[in-house]
Amino acid sequence: MAHFDYRDGHLCCEQVDLGKLAAEVGTPAYVYSKAALLESLAAYDRAFRDVPHVVCYSVKANSNLGVLSVLAKAGAGADIVSGGELFRALRAGVPAKKIIFSGVGKSRDELRDALKAEILMFNVESRSELRVLDEVAREMGVRAPVALRVNPDVDPQTHPYIATGLKTSKFGIPYADALQVYEEAAALKGLSVIGADMHIGSQLTKATPVADAVARVVGLVKSLRERRIEVRMIDVGGGLGIRYRDETPPTQEQYAMLLLPALREVGVTVLLEPGRSIVGNAGALLSRVLYRKDTGTKKFVVIDAAMNDLIRPSLYDAHHDIVPLDERRRAAPTEKVDVVGPICESGDFLAKDRELPKVEEDDLVALMSAGAYGFAMASNYNTRPRAAEVLVDGSRYTIVRRRETYEDLVAGETTL
Ligand code: LLP
Repeated sequence: MAHFDYRDGHLCCEQVDLGKLAAEVGTPAYVYSKAALLESLAAYDRAFRDVPHVVCYSVKANSNLGVLSVLAKAGAGADIVSGGELFRALRAGVPAKKIIFSGVGKSRDELRDALKAEILMFNVESRSELRVLDEVAREMGVRAPVALRVNPDVDPQTHPYIATGLKTSKFGIPYADALQVYEEAAALKGLSVIGADMHIGSQLTKATPVADAVARVVGLVKSLRERRIEVRMIDVGGGLGIRYRDETPPTQEQYAMLLLPALREVGVTVLLEPGRSIVGNAGALLSRVLYRKDTGTKKFVVIDAAMNDLIRPSLYDAHHDIVPLDERRRAAPTEKVDVVGPICESGDFLAKDRELPKVEEDDLVALMSAGAYGFAMASNYNTRPRAAEVLVDGSRYTIVRRRETYEDLVAGETTL
């Protein structure tokens, strides 16, 4: 992970000693590197520099206002999937004209709010949604700019929970129906058809399935133009993977090189919806070892972060490297352990049967590559306050979300 390195024996994020930071902010705490965020965003802009494009950062990956505002200032737009994400994106300073609204289940209220804000585009996922959006827009006396999310039916070769571009998935309009649905959309007075959209899955470590899907969407756009439906934007979705352990996902440059030839044929504005590849390796979760426990059959390291803080290992069997903040510990003899949290579920683990250098009680560790779908998927299960979030910039840091208090946890509830 760029910007997370040992300096003088201490793990640092940029120039900030994470041990010191943990002592000041407490654990568990998420730490993000501003430089890493900006570099991954810039890599997309560089890769697509030759075509008109907007990088609409996928807010769901990490929706912290600090993170969003850094990306917004650097020119990013936003890909949102709820009214809440619209609120966050606008609050963080993302221009409405760079916001696209995706998702299979947008409510009327959410559609109305987004129309009021005058966002760039709605990615519509069904005939029913088209009808409702048309109605809402006409009630408001406006035209909703739409793209249809087409399901290109390609195998993204990723974890089944995060694959979306197969026929069996709930997402998108079947490729075979797309022309017909586009013609229906074009006839609706509350809509203005401007784009085509796809997204085939997440943590993609090969770009060829995306390129195949893009080729299908470009073919569709050509057929639409023959029917005088002028699509001027293609949204290629997000999904580019990152290295958690030993994966070798394509770089943004390689990704662009595969996609651009087809996209250039139709001369469109290219929209991108990356989430993980912007924030994933820009963040780590800091945690303290509470206890060591040896049951005779297994060794456990109990840490103060749990599945409510980072659910990816429990939910997807995902791998996050775990490293001690004190570099000397790395030289300790290794042992096979389960790293677990305090939550009352056997499914609460951060690593299973992991060969780790021996850590002791009170040691600090970092769970790496946790910037995407980490805090964003955190919950208050077991009435655990959600972790603090910290953004590092050079030798300084800002708490961009304070640790929740017990009062926060009961705010809005009442006793009887
Ligand atoms: N666009 C759409 C329509 C999406 O559904 C997603 C992610 C993205 C963009 C961003 O994808 P990314 O570039 O981050 O791969 N919680 C899972 C990932 C779920 C992804 C959902 N959709 C995980 O922790 O791996």
